[in-house]
Formats: sequence, C-alpha cells, structure tokens
Amino acid sequence: MLQMQSAKEPRVPDHPPPLIVATWSFSARGCRKAFPDLLSGSSALEVVCGVAREAEADPSVDSVGFGGLPDATGRVTLDAAVMVAPERCGSVCAVSRHLFVTDLARRVMERTSHVMLAGEGADAFADAMDMPSTDLLSPAAAQAWQRWRVGEPIGRPMDAGPTTGQLFATPASAAHAPAGFRHATERETPHDTIGVLAIDRAGSLAGACSTSGLPFKLAGRVGDSPIIGHGLYVDPEAGGAVATGTGEMVMGVNGTFLAVECMRRGATPGEAVHEVLTRIERRFRPQTHQQVALIALSRTGEWSAGALRSGFIVSCAQGSGTELLQPQFVMHPEDVVDGPHPADAGGGS
Ligand code: GLY
Repeated sequence: MLQMQSAKEPRVPDHPPPLIVATWSFSARGCRKAFPDLLSGSSALEVVCGVAREAEADPSVDSVGFGGLPDATGRVTLDAAVMVAPERCGSVCAVSRHLFVTDLARRVMERTSHVMLAGEGADAFADAMDMPSTDLLSPAAAQAWQRWRVGEPIGRPMDAGPTTGQLFATPASAAHAPAGFRHATERETPHDTIGVLAIDRAGSLAGACSTSGLPFKLAGRVGDSPIIGHGLYVDPEAGGAVATGTGEMVMGVNGTFLAVECMRRGATPGEAVHEVLTRIERRFRPQTHQQVALIALSRTGEWSAGALRSGFIVSCAQGSGTELLQPQFVMHPEDVVDGPHPADAGGGS
C-alpha cells in the first residue's frame, strides 16, 4: 500500500550519491572500511584521509607508507597531498620520520597558512603536531633495496600473485559498475601512488594521494603526488582527478589540473582522462615499462579511469559495496608493466 510522504520527512537531496574511487586494489580494504562512515555522514575529506591511512599502515604495499621502497641510498621518503578546493589544499614531501603523511598534509591545510612543507621542516611540523615519529623502512623493503643494489631481481610482492585484483573482490555483480567498466579479473601489475576521490552525502568532493615515490629514486627526487595540480586536483565547481604512475610525465602536463579543466569546459571524465594520456603520449613517447593512470570524477558524480598500459585496477565503493574494476580504457592493452625499471631508479642510466 502506498504511503503518503510526511511533510517533515527529509527531501531526497539533489546531489549525487556518496562514492569513493581509488587507485589500485590495495585501496579496496580502506574503501570498504570507510564507505559505511561516508553513508552515515562523514565528510569526503575525512574518508579520503582514512582510505589513504589504511594503505600507509599496510606493510605489504611497497609504494606507500611503511613498506614503501626506499631511494637509492636506502632511505624511505614519503609524499602526500589533500585537496577540497583551490583555496583549501595541503601537502608534504620528502617526509622521512612520520608515517601518516596524508593526515600531515591535512594539518598543513588546516593549521597553517601554507600549502606545502618539505623534508625536515615537514617532519618538524609533524613533531609539533604531536604525531609519532617512526622508522619507515620495513624489513622487506630493506631486503629489496639490498637486492637492487647488487643487481638481483627485486621480487616485489606483486610479482608473486596471480590476479591480485581478485583478492579483495566482493561477489561479482556488475550492478554498480559504470558503463564501460569490467570487473577486474586480470593480474594487477606493480602499483604506485594511492589516489582517492570521494563525494559525500552533502555533495562535497575531496581528494588525497600518498606515495613513497619511484622505487630507488635519486635521493631528493619528488614526483607528482604532493604537487597540487599534478598528482591531485579538486575544484568543487568542476570535479577532481588523481594520477598514479611515472610522476615525471604527469608533471610535464599538469595532469590532474588538465583533467579537471577539461571537465570544466564540458568534457566527460573519460574524455578528460583520455586528453591527459594522449598529451603524455605525444610529448613523452613513454617506453613500454612506463605506466600512467588517472581517475577523474565530475562534480555531478560521474567518473572514469584510464591507463597507458594494462594492469591498472580501480577500487570503487558505491551503492551497496566495494568493487575492483578495470579502467574504462587502456591506451596500449598489449603492454604489461612488470616491475621497476633500472632507467627510472637513482642508480640507472
Ligand atoms: N606517482 C608517484 C611518483 O612518481 O612519485
């Protein structure tokens, strides 16, 4: 029997349903944990920080936080950024004593008049914020560095698994997958930055990213992740984007700023991601071992993801669950990136 709606019942809000999208399968655990909070009213900013924190604390993720592979000198340095609007963003880079760098970036945004703190200054700010300091080099990452130094195969954790993408998968149901996406059934290749975008019940957007950077990078190298407009950009008037992969190429085209500007001018998220990857291809002519992938989310809640090469997976929490999805398009599906390449590392040619 039909029920009359009481005048006192809340009106169905006129904005998109809550959503989290994040790079790589390792972010699925954080998405799954954070999504109920998002549905209960947590802010998008709170949620993207929570998803990033989960990966930062996971020693099995060798590209983010504790467990991240060190630079060429054996030292782990972390980069992160958060953003909710052009006038509300924060980031840190080359942090060497503190683990929860996304929370630290948030504190830069909320407690200082600056956008970005680097190196020892960022660590000192974390001390001042009473954030605990810690050794960031995990035993597995130290071993990988020792092997890399003598030219042995590195054997990253991803090399061992068949279809890593299925480890966290919810029972297959394509019900929530946007058109053009397939559930992830292929093997995920070595991963990189965690980038997270969310839209909350109030319709607000937020984004975060966190990384230990390229494995065995030259000491002092900083990539795209902590630089606003490169690894992360959010503008509530247009949308948000996150990037993962070889940061130097993302930096050359202001990758996420470009994606958001494309959406501002009317492009769909898919068209925006395609424009960024096409521009990277045209200018850099990436080698087959070099991967870049982006996720773009419009202010109205549509999203898309694309990658240069096979092996990129998106974690998506929406509707009733968390899913692992293939990106909507891959520019070169025949290429599979299978590990860190000497030419990208500090000791390479
Ligand atoms: N995309 C992470 C980095 O290049 O450092």
